[in-house]
Amino acid sequence: MKKGLAILGSTGSIGTQALQVISAWPDLFCLELISGHSNAELLLSQIEQFRPKYAVITEERAYKKVSKSLSGSTTNILFGEENLLQLLEIQEIDTVLIAIVGFAGLKPLIHSIQYHKKILLANKESLVIAGEYIMPLAKKNNCNIIPIDSEHSAIFQCLIGEEKNTLKKVILTASGGPFLNYDIDKFKLIKPEKALNHPIWKMGKKVSVDSASLMNKGLEVIEARWLFGLRPNQINVIIHPQSVIHSLVQFTDGSLKAQLSEADMRLPIQYALHYPNRAKKSLSQFSLIDNTELTFQQVDRKKFRNLALAFNAMEKGGNLPAILSAANEVAVQEFLNGRWPFYRIPELVEEMMNHQLFISEPDLQTYYETTKKCFADSEAYIRKHT
Ligand SMILES: NC(=O)c1ccc[n+]([C@@H]2O[C@H](COP(=O)([O-])OP(=O)(O)OC[C@H]3O[C@@H](n4cnc5c(N)ncnc54)[C@H](OP(=O)(O)O)[C@@H]3O)[C@@H](O)[C@H]2O)c1
Repeated sequence: MKKGLAILGSTGSIGTQALQVISAWPDLFCLELISGHSNAELLLSQIEQFRPKYAVITEERAYKKVSKSLSGSTTNILFGEENLLQLLEIQEIDTVLIAIVGFAGLKPLIHSIQYHKKILLANKESLVIAGEYIMPLAKKNNCNIIPIDSEHSAIFQCLIGEEKNTLKKVILTASGGPFLNYDIDKFKLIKPEKALNHPIWKMGKKVSVDSASLMNKGLEVIEARWLFGLRPNQINVIIHPQSVIHSLVQFTDGSLKAQLSEADMRLPIQYALHYPNRAKKSLSQFSLIDNTELTFQQVDRKKFRNLALAFNAMEKGGNLPAILSAANEVAVQEFLNGRWPFYRIPELVEEMMNHQLFISEPDLQTYYETTKKCFADSEAYIRKHT
């Protein structure tokens, strides 16, 4: 029987690749729902090509454009987050792929868990913000969360068949991004075009900037903590510029398991879509002979201060990871808008971590309130200090 699938954030980098993957498996998936925010043109062409039952647009101008151009379509076009959440309740949808970027992914994730959906999770910010709340909720609702992030997919695959108490540590690999070999003095000159030009991965704008500042790795560290139930001291990061090994797990007997493949996000997307099975045909074949250079180095946490801040937020816990994520989300947006320099992203994050109210045992409402207050205060800080 076909799986009823929803792809949230279908107009993004992960969303478009997910659509490519499912088009290779027409007998496996029935596309019930797609959602986009501002990219009306792309959503229109996706509706025409994939004919989902529903499409939701969360930005009003884009919604008007799409609904006007598609009167008479077999796809039901709806506006706004409330409608999106309601649609996630329908029985025909059993799997929800969440590829919305940032804080906006949190509510759909929680709602999907509450309605017992199988979750394929690309959005990392939601687990960073509220992983301590989300993972027990998923357990209570008997809900599987399958990671799409390549590092977490690698760890997930390495852990299959292993006993939990034999896991010693996980090692997340990081390519190091476009500024790995930049002197820190040159960080002042970094413009958005350079930060968006990742040497290996082609991704959405926020995750590209996060990769350049290594905040992406910091967010992934916190994501790994909750996904795999780890203690902070069980998580390590190592630079591996070739991005061939996507992450590793070390066991109590000293053995290391790693997952290797081409740097192609369609592979972890395909893995998550097929889990617990493996796809019987491949998108690309990895060759060791073509990838003989595998190098590793320690991360310079003075140069990439965001990573140190993320470890700090994870160790202190409470609402601090939510503060880190919110301040970073604003800083990245303002950097892309040309209003905040790249080298000052960690300054804003640290300022918010030091001065927002720390709550050691937040409930769900606290995560929302913390994030919204930190958005507003981060914007005010930027206005005052530029
Ligand atoms: N790209 C990768 O290779 C990659 C790898 C691992 C993990 N991830 C994670 O996956 C998530 C998505 O990344 P991406 O690179 O695909 O991002 P992206 O290309 O920027 O796409 C983001 C998607 O979210 C939608 N969106 C933006 N703001 C929204 C809002 N307020 N409400 C609802 N939808 C909204 C966008 O719609 P419009 O475009 O229509 O505005 C788009 O569909 C991120 O959390 C990222 O860290 C990405």
